Amino acid sequence: MIHLTDLAYVRIGTREMDAQLDFAQDIVGLELIKREGDTAYLRADNRHHCVAFIEGDEVGTLAHAFTLAGPEELAAAAAELEAAGLQVHRGTVDEAQARRVRDFISFVAPGDNRVELVIGQVHVESRPVRWSRPAGITEFGHIGIEVPDVMEAHGFWTKHFNIKVSDWIGTTACLTRFDPVHHKLALFRDVTGLAHINFQVESIDDIMRSWHFLEDNDVEITMGPGRHPQSTAVFLYFKGPEGHTWEYSFGVRLIPDDDAWTPRYFDPSEPDFIDMWRGAVPAARRRAD
Ligand SMILES: [Fe+2]
Repeated sequence: MIHLTDLAYVRIGTREMDAQLDFAQDIVGLELIKREGDTAYLRADNRHHCVAFIEGDEVGTLAHAFTLAGPEELAAAAAELEAAGLQVHRGTVDEAQARRVRDFISFVAPGDNRVELVIGQVHVESRPVRWSRPAGITEFGHIGIEVPDVMEAHGFWTKHFNIKVSDWIGTTACLTRFDPVHHKLALFRDVTGLAHINFQVESIDDIMRSWHFLEDNDVEITMGPGRHPQSTAVFLYFKGPEGHTWEYSFGVRLIPDDDAWTPRYFDPSEPDFIDMWRGAVPAARRRAD
């Protein structure tokens, strides 16, 4: 069993670095911490970075990264994944430096999603984030990954990792956790268009202010403001360059006692299956089959 301790970062390929960086700073509000060669690092909390854009021909998410406790856990993870028949890449010194981690491995999870398991992610504790915009972000919250088969992905993640299911949305989404936060890894069937990167914000006022700010700046809002019945979080999803989806949310449910929680099932044919406020939901997200 591989024990994830935290989210680390997301690596995103781009052909439009300047547009991505303008959006990530001026709209999302992140701090551009460094540009180095073909890579730009953005910060939202004490992690060195939680988003890295890599300029090149490959557009979209290149890898999602999670943290493990230490070298022994990393070696054990590599052994477990190889025993399961996966090809495991050992990060080189240069690759680890480019990720600002001590060491890492990577593999391809079901759905052709590259995952990196890291140890020793550099943290910057000595100075607060220099926000480009006061969006009220408190931390890198969770990631949504698209997979063609949610049940297959669920089987993989729950078999090999300390991943627990918090709730199901039909068979098109499985919201999972590895700590008390309701979900930090959301698996979505790839017709839903729900792959995204989430940032928690300080208050519901931040959500509503950002809603108006995004509208004033002609940003495409894909869903929200609304409230998820699963996590109780108030959400706002919006699109950036190259179709990348971002989310702010506030008020996520905590599940402090795993034994006291039974995953629930939400039916996409119900009007409030994903938004208790019954706001408009893009049609693809209603597909239950
Ligand atoms: Fe989300």
